[in-house]
Amino acid sequence: MHGNIHMGEKVVAITGGAQGIGRGIAYAFAEAGYSVSIADTAADAGDEAVAHIGKIGRRAIYEHVDVSRTDDVHRWIARTVRDLGAPDVLVNNAGINANKPFLELSVEDFDRVQGVNVRGTFLCSQAVARELVKAKRGGAIINIASTRAFMSEADTEAYTASKGGIVALTHGMAISLGGYGIRVNAVSPGWIETSDWQYSGRAKDPHHSDADNAQHPVGRVGVPDDIAKACLFLANDASFMTGQNIIIDGGMSVKMIYV
Ligand SMILES: NC(=O)c1ccc[n+]([C@@H]2O[C@H](COP(=O)([O-])OP(=O)(O)OC[C@H]3O[C@@H](n4cnc5c(N)ncnc54)[C@H](O)[C@@H]3O)[C@@H](O)[C@H]2O)c1
Repeated sequence: MHGNIHMGEKVVAITGGAQGIGRGIAYAFAEAGYSVSIADTAADAGDEAVAHIGKIGRRAIYEHVDVSRTDDVHRWIARTVRDLGAPDVLVNNAGINANKPFLELSVEDFDRVQGVNVRGTFLCSQAVARELVKAKRGGAIINIASTRAFMSEADTEAYTASKGGIVALTHGMAISLGGYGIRVNAVSPGWIETSDWQYSGRAKDPHHSDADNAQHPVGRVGVPDDIAKACLFLANDASFMTGQNIIIDGGMSVKMIYV
């Protein structure tokens, strides 16, 4: 049915879903009744996430995928369709950065970041949209951008360019896919603490200073669930929203600084 998520067992496909914010999103969708397909490059973490979702009582699969590679992405979406069904929701979450001094940033580093963050978002979105169009169903695509699409620290150009690209890709795809009942929105996290959401073998205790917390108007650093809640809203309760970007940063980016 165009414009709506179809009834029955719903499927979410999440890139970078093995750990970090993506793992938080995967668990939240599983808790909400979705089957989950995870694409990631961290197999140990992916297996752990799949086992956890099994305990929640939902179906889950892990596929070893570099989202910048066309063949990997097509293999992942074909397996997802075969094993779980065409994804009702795609969350483009996988992302990398390259924090190098601008004057020393190589073209290879720059391209690698665009390849994972921007090309990966394009490839996965196109593959899922083709399946939904084939199945004559609507759906929702959610792109994880960043407040860094709009503001910067020094020496983060590869990452900020990629996140700006993701925000623009979001409104572009929203227009191109609107007629097929596919809504496309972005979520831009601020500072999200992911230590508790890494592979258990690598997890470490998070520590935030009073200053870290105080620079957020809400008084704390974020957690993956803050982002997952927005993704669930965009997937399930936002049928009149497309092409938008929701900033979730505890108010950090609207705080005026005089020093
Ligand atoms: N944590 C934050 O404060 C923050 C803030 C703003 C935006 N974000 C964005 O949120 C998303 C998730 O960030 P995170 O902090 O959870 O990162 P993370 O590094 O903890 O997790 C990212 C996951 O993506 C996987 N991944 C990396 N490259 C991949 C590739 N080429 N193909 C498939 N999977 C790949 C990693 O293995 C990992 O499991 C990213 O897009 C990031 O830019 C994070």
